[in-house]
Amino acid sequence: MGSEKSLSEPRLLTDEENRKLEHQKITLSELKISLLQKEAAKNWDKFYKNNTTKFFKDRHWLLREFQPLQILLASSEHTIYFLEVGCGVGNAFFPLMEAAGSSVFGLACDFSSRAVDFVRQNEQFNTNRMFAFTCDIVQESIIDKLRVITSGIDIMTVLFVLSALDPNEMQRALKNLADVMKCGGKVCVRDYAVNDYAMIRFGTRNHKISDRFYVRQDNTKAYFFFMEELEALFRDAGFKTESLCYKEAKTENREKQLSVDRYFVQAVFEKL
Ligand SMILES: C[S@@+](CC[C@H](N)C(=O)[O-])C[C@H]1O[C@@H](n2cnc3c(N)ncnc32)[C@H](O)[C@@H]1O
Repeated sequence: MGSEKSLSEPRLLTDEENRKLEHQKITLSELKISLLQKEAAKNWDKFYKNNTTKFFKDRHWLLREFQPLQILLASSEHTIYFLEVGCGVGNAFFPLMEAAGSSVFGLACDFSSRAVDFVRQNEQFNTNRMFAFTCDIVQESIIDKLRVITSGIDIMTVLFVLSALDPNEMQRALKNLADVMKCGGKVCVRDYAVNDYAMIRFGTRNHKISDRFYVRQDNTKAYFFFMEELEALFRDAGFKTESLCYKEAKTENREKQLSVDRYFVQAVFEKL
């Protein structure tokens, strides 16, 4: 990730982009939409079958962008419990655990069992200080799955995961995250923002599920957030906002060897 700019408003669209958005019609049947919701884990599992560990780049920028993650570097008498939610194959988990001090215990979960297997098979995976587990954050209680290890998480990362959920599932997922957080614990979030270029690029038919919510060719889904709605979701789940902004970032498209502008929402929330 190259240079990044913080913004307080969403990106403005050009006339051409507005026209493209207007042409995106909801043509998917209700049956197809409910199937996408039912088969979400299966579709992400297929994604990891096809792409293995090669799709996402390691996220080495996290410590720079999220000040609260510095807690991982400090030495502490107590164990610091860190959870990466929707960890995929560990592109955020391993760089953070590599930098983390010996008092940190790292937990990683995803609802794709294939992704969790990739995490466990990674040569950096160390069972003395790491635990990876399958969990559907909408359907299953995280705290139940972690009960033998800890009753509370100090710091959590939720990166490009909420956008994969249906909007009607988000509140349930966030309550689940809140249940496993210690009071004062921090959640670091980055996700897709409204008017991101990827949102405009969706085709005119068979991609749009609802407002700012789309399905990709591979049947995985992407929601594009206003930062105020992200804040409201976390507030309703029992968090207060520590920081919140839009981010303009240059990312590299490896396949096309291009550097592209992307727009994200970025936030830190504290459990009350
Ligand atoms: C775009 S990937 C991000 C992976 C990782 N956080 C990163 O930054 O590299 C989204 C991940 O969220 C996971 N995911 C989506 N919905 C989930 C759910 N309901 N419960 C748990 N994981 C989920 C997917 O399997 C996928 O690995």
